[in-house]
Amino acid sequence: MLSWVLLIHGVLSDAGAMAQSTPGAVEYRIQRASSEVVIDARLDEPAWQKAAPASDFLFNWFSAGEKERTEAKMLWDDDNLYVSWRCEDRHISAYETKRHGPVSKDDCVEIFISPNPQKVRNYYTFEINSIGTMLNRCRTDWFTGGPTWEPEGVRHRATFSGLAKKDEQGDDREWIVEMAIPLKNFARDAAHMPPRDGDEWRLNLMRTGGRTNMQQSTWSPIAPPGRSFHSPENFGKVVFVAQTTAQQGRPVLDPATQQRPEGKQGGRRRRVFSGPVNAEDAAAGREIYNKSCTMCHGLNGAEGDRAPALGAQRRYLRRTEDELFDAIKNGIRGTLMPASPAPDADVRKMVAYIRSLRATAADAGFTGDVAKGEGLFMGKGNCLKCHMVKGRGGILGPDLTNIAAERRVEDLRQALTEGKPHPSEGFKPVAVQLKTGAWVRGVIKNEDSFTMQVLGEDERLHMILRAEARKIEYVEKSPMVGGWDKRLPADEFRDLVAFLCKQTRRGQ
Ligand code: HEC
Ligand code: HEC
Repeated sequence: MLSWVLLIHGVLSDAGAMAQSTPGAVEYRIQRASSEVVIDARLDEPAWQKAAPASDFLFNWFSAGEKERTEAKMLWDDDNLYVSWRCEDRHISAYETKRHGPVSKDDCVEIFISPNPQKVRNYYTFEINSIGTMLNRCRTDWFTGGPTWEPEGVRHRATFSGLAKKDEQGDDREWIVEMAIPLKNFARDAAHMPPRDGDEWRLNLMRTGGRTNMQQSTWSPIAPPGRSFHSPENFGKVVFVAQTTAQQGRPVLDPATQQRPEGKQGGRRRRVFSGPVNAEDAAAGREIYNKSCTMCHGLNGAEGDRAPALGAQRRYLRRTEDELFDAIKNGIRGTLMPASPAPDADVRKMVAYIRSLRATAADAGFTGDVAKGEGLFMGKGNCLKCHMVKGRGGILGPDLTNIAAERRVEDLRQALTEGKPHPSEGFKPVAVQLKTGAWVRGVIKNEDSFTMQVLGEDERLHMILRAEARKIEYVEKSPMVGGWDKRLPADEFRDLVAFLCKQTRRGQ
């Protein structure tokens, strides 16, 4: 089988190309369901019938066999994202029945979802074979669980759900997978929960597997040299629209262009925060907060016994000053969060404090000699060896051009003092020995059951077939070493941090 995997180690490509993304190559507008959706793998509800299909799946690295069509659709309501695939297939087979088993070797459909378009590498996967076995992963920078993930409350059904196995049969024609994914599973990464009209996510819909016509097709094209579904840079764009399938006239959307009808107001994103935090207000707010809110939330904004952390690295449901003010002043209906009796001025100070916990390095007002810091970055620190800033430098580590807009001072300080004790997705170090005896050392950019893409210390992207590897050693230690607070005198360390705090795209 697997004749489609023609790439082997040695088919090397320019790693620079890999870093590029092709967002928005395809787009789909997800409409609200106009009727109840019953998860029965039938798709006979009016809501599905009226929903527009996603554009045709593409065969990115198809080599031979019959190209079988897949029609995918999506819908949403306040609770769920609904997804359906109708797969034309004259050879349907599936054998994996173990939860989280390697279902992609069977006839299988998949959806990989990035709820935050600014952070496509935070994505969630759902793979379901034609007998209804599911595999899930959570590839995000906050998830600390193992290689698989237990989403909450997913309902799904495939045409052959319930069978212990499905062999190919002469009368095979098509199979369907229908699923409802509770949106709350994405609360940590999505801008709003439930999404608002105009909210944009990125995702890809895929189809793979089967014994005959083993082929892989995707809704959003996967740009070469990528050969993996696990390439969030290639995810297509989806937009949640408040309009239901029923409110619409005849063709719900033009299937070819997926255009939204004229006159619909765009879902303009609200301003997140307005400028740097006032340090004095924040300090006063911290006092008030620690006195009046910690019976539920934790001290200093940490997670408490009865309420979430307010300053951890996650995306929050309430992000604007207005939203925070409203939550504190009026409480949050339907939850334990009470209205605060504090005067407005104090509420504003608490808002400033919560903002300071969340503020990015660029907004934190960190001071130091930026020019000296730049000298250290380029010189003694040798940071350019692995990091790019504004188009210059190495690629083994993340591009730091916009790091001050993405991280808090505390995160930068931590990277420099402790290194990265738990390497993040996309930067997991690995050493692979090929059957030829040669070693490839670097960081894992993508991997799936069959292949691995390793960005080598030689700055080249190595595509490795697992079957070609003799040994795969996952290295615990990240290439990012800490201890810079000890290696550098205190003022130089401060200057280096100050330089990083200036690295934003808008500051260019
Ligand atoms: C009785 C327990 C309790 C107390 C006291 C309390 N909170 Fe909360 N708070 C909660 C809970 C529970 C939530 C989560 C609500 C939800 O699920 O949306 C919350 C949520 C919040 C949020 C929204 C977080 C977000 O981004 O979605 C803010 C802001 C907040 N609290 C601030 C405060 C402040 C400031 C105080 C003190 C004036 C306070 N809370 C006191 C229980 C409490
Ligand atoms: C040998 C290569 C290498 C060198 C040299 C290096 N880094 Fe890194 N750095 C990395 C890698 C790889 C990561 C990503 C680690 C991870 O997220 O698991 C990283 C992460 C970081 C981060 C965190 C980025 C984020 O997204 O949170 C910062 C900040 C950083 N490096 C700054 C520096 C500075 C400043 C220097 C010079 C003093 C430096 N690095 C030198 C490889 C390197």
